[in-house]
Amino acid sequence: MIIIHDLKKIFENKKKGSVSYKEALKGISFVCKPGEIYGLLGPNGAGKTTTLRCISTLIKPTSGTITVNDYDVIKDDKQVRSIIGFFTSDMKLDGFFTPDYMMDYFGRLNKMTPKAIAERKEVLVKELHMEEFRNKKIDKLSTGMKQKTSIAISLIHNPDIIIFDEPTNGLDVITAKNVTDFLIKYAKEGKTVLISTHIMSVAEQICDRIGILIDGLIKEDGTLQEIIAENRANNLEDVFFKYLEVQDVE
Ligand SMILES: Nc1ncnc2c1ncn2[C@@H]1O[C@H](COP(=O)(O)OP(=O)(O)OP(=O)(O)O)[C@@H](O)[C@H]1O
Ligand SMILES: [Mg+2]
Repeated sequence: MIIIHDLKKIFENKKKGSVSYKEALKGISFVCKPGEIYGLLGPNGAGKTTTLRCISTLIKPTSGTITVNDYDVIKDDKQVRSIIGFFTSDMKLDGFFTPDYMMDYFGRLNKMTPKAIAERKEVLVKELHMEEFRNKKIDKLSTGMKQKTSIAISLIHNPDIIIFDEPTNGLDVITAKNVTDFLIKYAKEGKTVLISTHIMSVAEQICDRIGILIDGLIKEDGTLQEIIAENRANNLEDVFFKYLEVQDVE
């Protein structure tokens, strides 16, 4: 379970002697439960990646609290890191190595035994259909293949908490479906899955709960049906544009 309470993040930008501040998150709260996929849906610059990076201990919140299975992201950062799998498509992979080697490497970093690594690799290769390219150099792989490699690496230790930043970005429909089916399966097994996306259909199709994040604030938090009913809308797109129009007028 991930519990986020009144999370604020202010970035300080220093440029030629002057300092400016960007309030990327203005006090957001939400809960991601085991067995569910929670989708943070928002336009570019809304604060999705910032939220996921705070939860994953990559950056420190300015204020507010985040607990991951009762571990605090500041006090218990090591424990948090050991139980989460964080994926972002920005991940840079060394082109010289193969997916198979990278999975071994990250398995060892996570202090897994060689036997556990070998078993887990077979599961991931099968689930993500990596058979054809697991032993090819990463340099030679397509975008989708690299993305699958990054996903496999992030989940090598079979974490209970899965945090994926824009998991279907840049993927064709077949590969995107492979990745989303895979997330649904993990949620069904009881894992806590949190994703960010700006793609409405992804939120509609795979998320049990959706948080609409706009300009650092959660505007809606609920199931798809709840959000649509409360806004007397026909679909999620209507709700989304309602908030974006309000923002434009302001
Ligand atoms: N390291 C940083 N330093 C300064 N400002 C930052 C930093 N990281 C993010 N920001 C700013 O915080 C805001 C939120 O950025 P963030 O990357 O979280 O958005 P996002 O919702 O993930 O957007 P996208 O859909 O484009 O990935 C933006 O205005 C961005 O410019
Ligand atoms: Mg982002």
